[in-house]
Amino acid sequence: MSKISEKFQRTGDKENSKFFEEYLPKIYDRREASGLDDLFIGMRAVVVQVDHGESLKYLMELYLMTPYRFYKGYVSSTHKVYILQNKSDYPYLIILEPLSKDYSDQFTAIDSLYPRAAEKANARYIGEIYQSKNARETAKILSSQEIRFQDTAGIKNSFLANKNFIVSDLSYFTNNAVIYTNSDLLNLDSLAIGEPLSLTKEELAALAPVDDLHRKYGLEKLVFGIDHLATRVFAGEREDAILEFLCMTNYYFWGAYNIEDSNSSTNICRNPNVSYELHSPAKVFTANNTPFYVKTIDNLPSPTEDFVRNMGKRLHHIAYEVEDGEKDGEKNIDYVVSKLVEENIPFLAQIIGECKDVPDLKQIFSKSSPHSLLITEYVQRCKGFAGFFTKTNVGYLTKAAGEDEKLKH
Ligand SMILES: [Fe+2]
Repeated sequence: MSKISEKFQRTGDKENSKFFEEYLPKIYDRREASGLDDLFIGMRAVVVQVDHGESLKYLMELYLMTPYRFYKGYVSSTHKVYILQNKSDYPYLIILEPLSKDYSDQFTAIDSLYPRAAEKANARYIGEIYQSKNARETAKILSSQEIRFQDTAGIKNSFLANKNFIVSDLSYFTNNAVIYTNSDLLNLDSLAIGEPLSLTKEELAALAPVDDLHRKYGLEKLVFGIDHLATRVFAGEREDAILEFLCMTNYYFWGAYNIEDSNSSTNICRNPNVSYELHSPAKVFTANNTPFYVKTIDNLPSPTEDFVRNMGKRLHHIAYEVEDGEKDGEKNIDYVVSKLVEENIPFLAQIIGECKDVPDLKQIFSKSSPHSLLITEYVQRCKGFAGFFTKTNVGYLTKAAGEDEKLKH
């Protein structure tokens, strides 16, 4: 048994295939034996691309809803690059905006295949940047294990083409990339991302009142960093998506829960080396239990796979942790959401989860951002609740999101 299998007991009730159970420990063993586990350090950034002309609007949304603030900016030959920081902690949130409205690359090509993604063809979550003790060695080992990497010269996005980054091929199973670097990303200027970019007077003037609102409501003391990143994939590719990700990082499979009501499962991978989840957020994969084409035979719902068919395999939401406690006589998450609703941020249905006398979880999904196409989730763990969801919560959230994500004919 691998060290990771011994160290962490599996949670959840979702049954995996014989293939999955056979290869999960083999993947852990290969990671240890090949030296990969020793090379990985941690997640340093998440990268999101928006359409041309949308970064300021997205920044304004983030300034109201999250603790992320502009830290440094650069202009590369293809993109404006906005590096946002959360109280000087990892991971950064990096926003890329193409300089031209006609910009297109492999991400645009993927988006063009899906009816709702094509509407914002460059709005897409790209992937995470992981620090390695030796990124080149990491890529060399992974290449010997049939993981493919992009040739820097062939990458159109000049941020990703940076010689300090090694970028995987887009995953067949998630459309996400995994990016490796030797850098701790502390000295950003040394990475030669591009010419320095400052926010203009007009941009600062647009952001200041939103930042003021965030502080006026005291949200900076209540909303912490990224708790998890959730990707939606097809039913038949759930195990591939998880196992491929586990081949490429030092994460481990924490467990999976079957959500019968939604005909789906939620599968969680975590970094074993961080004491605080927010320093290397969990990676969640969600998939239907049965594919869409048998839906009318079994009469089962299909919200997760409907999303994938409409938007493509992609990151579905970024979840932020809300401090456990109460403010003005209500749970912090109720308070946070009520203030955001006052500021016209739309949410999908109401907050769910009881959070009474026993450890429990309260959660809510925002509507997806018109700029990133990502949903923002808020999560409050009451009385030391240790998990990522409850079955009732996830069933409800998935259904609510499904209603909103339907194709509009
Ligand atoms: Fe979530």
